[in-house]
Amino acid sequence: MKIEEFLEKLPTNVINGEDVQLSEKSFREIFKFVELNENDVFYHLGCGDEKGIEIAINEFKVKKSVGIDNNFEKIEKAKNNLEDNKIQAELICQDIKESDISDATIILFWFTDEDVINKMVEKFEKLKSGTRIITIWGPLPDYLPDRVNFPYIANKVPFKKAKSIQEQLLAIFGVKCVDFVTAWEFAERYTKSLGTSEIKNDRFLTIIQTLTIWINAKNFGIACGDEIPESIKTYISIMKMHFDIDFEYLLDE
Ligand SMILES: C[S@@+](CC[C@H](N)C(=O)[O-])C[C@H]1O[C@@H](n2cnc3c(N)ncnc32)[C@H](O)[C@@H]1O
Repeated sequence: MKIEEFLEKLPTNVINGEDVQLSEKSFREIFKFVELNENDVFYHLGCGDEKGIEIAINEFKVKKSVGIDNNFEKIEKAKNNLEDNKIQAELICQDIKESDISDATIILFWFTDEDVINKMVEKFEKLKSGTRIITIWGPLPDYLPDRVNFPYIANKVPFKKAKSIQEQLLAIFGVKCVDFVTAWEFAERYTKSLGTSEIKNDRFLTIIQTLTIWINAKNFGIACGDEIPESIKTYISIMKMHFDIDFEYLLDE
């Protein structure tokens, strides 16, 4: 079966990220990477539970911490947790597209829905110069990242347009071309940051991510050399033989 067909079989709430919750470890890594501090007004868009805003207040001493989510039950539960732990932060049940984020200095934004992303980029562009938007895995569309600690990406207002998708991809990976080692290293960083403690699942995810990164790089003309590396060929056949998942058709002629 094609990789797309395999992904379609997974639960929708996992694929669209609706119920994906960042771990406390990820929050700390992200906040250290962007040097979150007492001068910051932090917004977590699509906050789910209140862990991110709690860590921002308690450990990084931000001036203000706001979580926004359009899921009523999640926000109610999060509010109760804050109350129980006597934490002063704001939780708002609202569609982020309608939200007022004008006083933000730093925003955590992990969405894949194109409509949400496009509408939010328009809002982000109007924020004060220097405001940082943290995204995960990729920068905001068409823009160059300000700083990268993959899979965490800092975008900074005013955004810089990328001349091409190739320039954007190479800026994320920090290389002149993508070879097998780069693809594997970045896939592994993503899995380690966001994966579970199930090593077996992590390896499976890393292989899928590696093939996706390398094949996309090849199709965008930024893979190193013209040949398909032996390791990529091997992983393509392992996926086909042992898991009946086909990647080969993704390669442009
Ligand atoms: C980590 S975000 C990412 C979800 C998103 N679907 C994606 O594309 O990855 C998940 C949280 O965002 C919330 N959410 C999804 N769409 C939203 C919206 N338009 N406004 C506010 N919160 C939203 C969900 O309730 C969930 O708690």
